[in-house]
Amino acid sequence: MKKLSLFFSAVMLCLTLTACGSGEPAKASSVAESDKSIVQEKLNKTESKSEQPDETAPAETADSPDSPETDSGTNILVAYFSRADENYSVGTVEVGNTQILAEYIAGEVGADSFHIETVTPYPADYDECCDVAKQEQKDNARPEIIGSVENTEQYDIVFLGYPIWWGDMPMAVYTFMDSYDWTDKVVIPFCTHEGSGLSGTDSSIASVTGAQVLTAIDMRGSTAQALNDDTRQTVRSWLDDLGF
Ligand SMILES: Cc1cc2nc3c(=O)[nH]c(=O)nc-3n(C[C@H](O)[C@H](O)[C@H](O)COP(=O)(O)O)c2cc1C
Repeated sequence: MKKLSLFFSAVMLCLTLTACGSGEPAKASSVAESDKSIVQEKLNKTESKSEQPDETAPAETADSPDSPETDSGTNILVAYFSRADENYSVGTVEVGNTQILAEYIAGEVGADSFHIETVTPYPADYDECCDVAKQEQKDNARPEIIGSVENTEQYDIVFLGYPIWWGDMPMAVYTFMDSYDWTDKVVIPFCTHEGSGLSGTDSSIASVTGAQVLTAIDMRGSTAQALNDDTRQTVRSWLDDLGF
């Protein structure tokens, strides 16, 4: 544990020095006015849909292998990868850092949610998990995911959340992106890390999915884990700027 942690601390220090604004509790680059109009256009699609008389489906979530079979009435999905157990800086946690952020965002925007989980779970031990993640990245692996999002055509806006693993997204997020048709979808990334910032993952999402990718937010995992009023306010302002 000690050897790898020391190595990781050195990596983190380098990444912190290069990461844009990563010393701040949470960071969203200033949101472009065009992002807001793109979101508005997508949100209007649901409003006009809900004006139709036979829209009676109850709200459900996609938070399990059994995704909603019926239209839950929202066109927003929060899909996220997050791992609990032992992690850098937070110790052993029951709920992953990104999941805490994902749940807050989903609550604020009234979205369905989908937890990207792998069929083979990652080791609970931090060092072992680092080894597995590194190997997967080296192999450009696509680890199998539990379940899938049904009714993908229902969602026009997808918030995509993940931790930074070795300067990139966990490979399971690539499995997720590879599994769907992203035509006409808007993706809004959010990530947690311990110094690396977004690490260009927003650009990777754009090139893998071909979707329109709007302004992301990133924050330290330890900040998300201890989610407080200030952090909520920062996330809320980012959502406000995006037009939610
Ligand atoms: C396998 C692994 C690799 C990681 N690599 C990085 C990294 O390259 N840069 C960084 O800033 N943080 C790194 N971290 C820290 C995580 O990004 C951070 O703890 C994150 O908040 C974890 O989110 P989660 O609890 O939702 O999984 C890594 C953590 C793990 C487990």
